Amino acid sequence: MSARFTGKVVLVTGGSAGIGRATALAFAREGATVVIAGRDEARLVAAVKEIEAAGGAADHVVADVSDAADAAGMVATTVRRHGGLHVAFNNAGVLGEVAPVADLAEDAWAAVIATNLTGVFLSMKHEIAHMRAHGGGAIVNVASNIGAHDRRPGLGAYAASKAGVSALTRTAALEAIGDGVRINAISPGATDTTMSLRPGETRAERDARIGAVTPAGRVGGTGEVAAAALWLASAEAGYLVGHDMVIDGGATA
Ligand SMILES: NC(=O)c1ccc[n+]([C@@H]2O[C@H](COP(=O)([O-])OP(=O)(O)OC[C@H]3O[C@@H](n4cnc5c(N)ncnc54)[C@H](OP(=O)(O)O)[C@@H]3O)[C@@H](O)[C@H]2O)c1
Repeated sequence: MSARFTGKVVLVTGGSAGIGRATALAFAREGATVVIAGRDEARLVAAVKEIEAAGGAADHVVADVSDAADAAGMVATTVRRHGGLHVAFNNAGVLGEVAPVADLAEDAWAAVIATNLTGVFLSMKHEIAHMRAHGGGAIVNVASNIGAHDRRPGLGAYAASKAGVSALTRTAALEAIGDGVRINAISPGATDTTMSLRPGETRAERDARIGAVTPAGRVGGTGEVAAAALWLASAEAGYLVGHDMVIDGGATA
């Protein structure tokens, strides 16, 4: 059994649910001390308990990544409590309101951009600053096949935010690699979390809807996204810089 992250401190934003929760668990299984961040403390505590029950080491920080002080505090608290920060998985995100651009309220637009794009900017700003001063590190940002690689009517704010994450990843990657900070992104397609459920839709209905339009014939598993994130963050991917890895069952192939 490999343990690629023994002795490493890993920060996972949006680690209380879905892809973030599965990825936090996967990092912990491979020896990392995992710090998960999100807005709802009860959900964070439940995820920490799940990781600890699996034999992992975990902690939580309540933080809204769209808030500059929270994002700075999230990184500072991680470093203060655990002695460093070696890997960050900037995953916190929201789908937001589904509406055509002409009908989208300005505050609905702003809310999606604030979490999905500004949240990644603020998180990376403090993560890179720490990592470049302490021997480097690895960052994996979560974009999406929608926006970064595909378009979907009704999801303009989401698409713009995720295309922004992909572009910001490449820019920051070029800026930071000289200081030993390796930055990449992943772009999942429809993945088995509550985000991919339409209002009132059952999981079975969602699975049939996605399966019918996805070459792989099914929804992606959170463990499959987590496995890609761990590999991108590991030394095995040491020559990958500024890459945006699409994991969508061929939907945008
Ligand atoms: N599921 C998919 O089909 C899919 C496809 C492509 C990309 N993605 C991307 O993958 C990422 C994870 O999605 P998911 O499906 O796992 O979603 P999810 O199950 O809804 O989980 C989202 C996580 O983000 C946290 N979060 C949301 N807003 C936040 C904020 N402002 N500050 C801090 N934490 C925040 C949530 O906790 P709190 O609400 O408690 O803060 C939760 O832990 C997102 O970036 C999403 O866009 C998902």
